[in-house]
Amino acid sequence: MSEQIDTALAHAASRIEPLSETPRLDAELLLAFCLGKTRAYLYTWPEQELEENTLAHFLSLVDERCKPTPVAYLLGWREFYAREFRATPAALVPRPETELLVEQALARLDPARRYGVLDLGTGSGIVAITLKLERPGIRVVATDIDPGSLELARDNARLLGAEVEFIESDWYTQLPADQTFDLVVSNPPYVAAEHPFLRAGDLPAEPQHALTPGSSGLEAIATIVAQAPRFLEPGGEIVLEHGYDQQAAVRDLLAASGFIDIECHLDLNDLPRCTTAKLFEK
Ligand SMILES: C[S@@+](CC[C@H](N)C(=O)[O-])C[C@H]1O[C@@H](n2cnc3c(N)ncnc32)[C@H](O)[C@@H]1O
Repeated sequence: MSEQIDTALAHAASRIEPLSETPRLDAELLLAFCLGKTRAYLYTWPEQELEENTLAHFLSLVDERCKPTPVAYLLGWREFYAREFRATPAALVPRPETELLVEQALARLDPARRYGVLDLGTGSGIVAITLKLERPGIRVVATDIDPGSLELARDNARLLGAEVEFIESDWYTQLPADQTFDLVVSNPPYVAAEHPFLRAGDLPAEPQHALTPGSSGLEAIATIVAQAPRFLEPGGEIVLEHGYDQQAAVRDLLAASGFIDIECHLDLNDLPRCTTAKLFEK
């Protein structure tokens, strides 16, 4: 059994194509991983014959990819905000659109000031850890209901050298009642339970509790918003990721809980995916 780099990539990409929007990239990432090289190496040496054990390893990963298993779970990492985070099936694969949530949060955190920040539903910890590393002076508390996600988040915080307090909690329930924050951020589950999207692409391989909160898709956001005023300082802010078709519902929930300056922000695809608001200061 023998194959060159370029033909192995072409064959793998055509197998991956029906289930991925980036079949060639997926194949390159997997082959570079098997070779212990960068993707640039594949372009520099396209005619290099692959050793038998490298090819066998690559083909087994392509089989896994076609199940489908997300590339991030096969490689064991995913880049987010220019840092590498460990990725395992315990938590949602970090999404590039969540960088919008981070940017909106950072825009509210003056580097010269100290803040308390709460990340609800931290998953692999990408939001909490990125905020702490970008604004070292802040205090970050992060909760998740899932102990497996929290273990991964703690690993990521240790590997990246970020000090974050992780708490196993159903949203705010395990936080001390007198604890307040300047900013609440969350990328909660927001896909409606019967939405066909949950059966598409890699989503069936990801933890369903990280994707859907119930039949309407708004259950988690409604809980987070309704209880936020108890845990926010007067004038404190909230930054939420949500579905592209939930903008109006999220706005209504925020307004009903006493938030003002409600603004929705567009992601790189011009979709309304992140809403920010401020708690009314009496
Ligand atoms: C969409 S994922 C986001 C994970 C991570 N923040 C990210 O952006 O990749 C939602 C997270 O909310 C967590 N979650 C779901 N229900 C929860 C609840 N009742 N209380 C706390 N966390 C919850 C899930 O375990 C999951 O990690």
